[in-house]
Amino acid sequence: MNDVGAKLRPIMQYDVLPTLEDYERFSEEHLIERIRFHKQRAGSDLVILGHHYQRPKITQLSDYVGDSYGLSEKAAHSPGKQIVFCGVRFMAESAAILCKPTQSVYHPDPDAGCPMADMANIDQVKKAWSTIHQWLDKSQKVIPVTYMNSTADLKAFCGERDGIVCTSSNAEKIYKWAYERGEKIFFFPDEHLGRNTGKKLEIPLEKMILWDPKKVDGGLTKEEVRQAKVILWAGHCPVHMEFKARDIKHVRKFFPGCKVVVHPECEKEVVDLADASGSTEFIVKYVGELPPKSTVFVGTEVNLVTRLQQMFSDRRVFKLQRSLCLTMYQINLSNLCYTLEHLENLEKVELNLDIKLNAKIALDRMLALN
Ligand code: 13P
Ligand code: SF4
Repeated sequence: MNDVGAKLRPIMQYDVLPTLEDYERFSEEHLIERIRFHKQRAGSDLVILGHHYQRPKITQLSDYVGDSYGLSEKAAHSPGKQIVFCGVRFMAESAAILCKPTQSVYHPDPDAGCPMADMANIDQVKKAWSTIHQWLDKSQKVIPVTYMNSTADLKAFCGERDGIVCTSSNAEKIYKWAYERGEKIFFFPDEHLGRNTGKKLEIPLEKMILWDPKKVDGGLTKEEVRQAKVILWAGHCPVHMEFKARDIKHVRKFFPGCKVVVHPECEKEVVDLADASGSTEFIVKYVGELPPKSTVFVGTEVNLVTRLQQMFSDRRVFKLQRSLCLTMYQINLSNLCYTLEHLENLEKVELNLDIKLNAKIALDRMLALN
């Protein structure tokens, strides 16, 4: 046994398995050593996937780091028998839907959800769908499109109704796909990504209407729905709502010539003022392609901005605002190490079979487009 293996011995001697609280008492250095040891021991059987918003200590230990789209592709093609997903719940669920039956997915904190994904539930969406269809003629086909940041039953809803999943990296392509098949798009749960994508495709703002599930009939009239090209769900990401148009005006005043890149979950006014917008992977590439010494302000989750500052130290990379995704931050070295050392006793990410099959249809449609 090597040094780290020897250090593991004390914990293996517990009469009962150590609890998560035991791991929380370990130093960061010790947890990192243990995680590296397990990775080395498991070899290609174990794959750790980490989203760009994970803290740098987690991305350093991940085998693949990427945006929601890239990680879903990795989950679909990864060779590992065990996939440990460091991200939020909808991401781990999507990996469990896309992986092979011989693979298992684990989530270091099953309570780490996405507040935006929780802004649309299946009953609300079914009710809206039914009302919208009472108001339309049979010839007016609506294609349901769910953002990846949604619960698995909403992906299944789309799979069952000729619909599809999109991510921030392919939303334009998905809109085009949908318009080849229908007259209108019903997009949930992020109104901002939905509107920003529609704007890129030059859909007039008045043709993008907002369905608010808290209001009677979504707060809309039959005529508005009949005229619409996109029916947007009133949902948002609290992390990206922190970035405001005034922040961009402010930095442009004090740093003339600076670049601004933001995530398309930001409000339209913010995306309109930025030099560029795109998925987390797009943002990494955008900053990476700027010439050395450039100044760039980044409007997305703070852990990614911190990592960009480390990756591109010859550029001046600043946060547009400090905005932390608390649920992404729930994944840490303690629960990752605990997960790796308790795999046999932990619950895998599992879904109802019908939901899984129908959600896979919608996800596969998206993956097939690349
Ligand atoms: P990406 O698909 O761009 O990685 O975004 C995921 C996300 O949760 C953004 O808030
Ligand atoms: Fe959800 Fe926003 Fe966090 Fe992304 S950043 S996981 S959309 S709350």
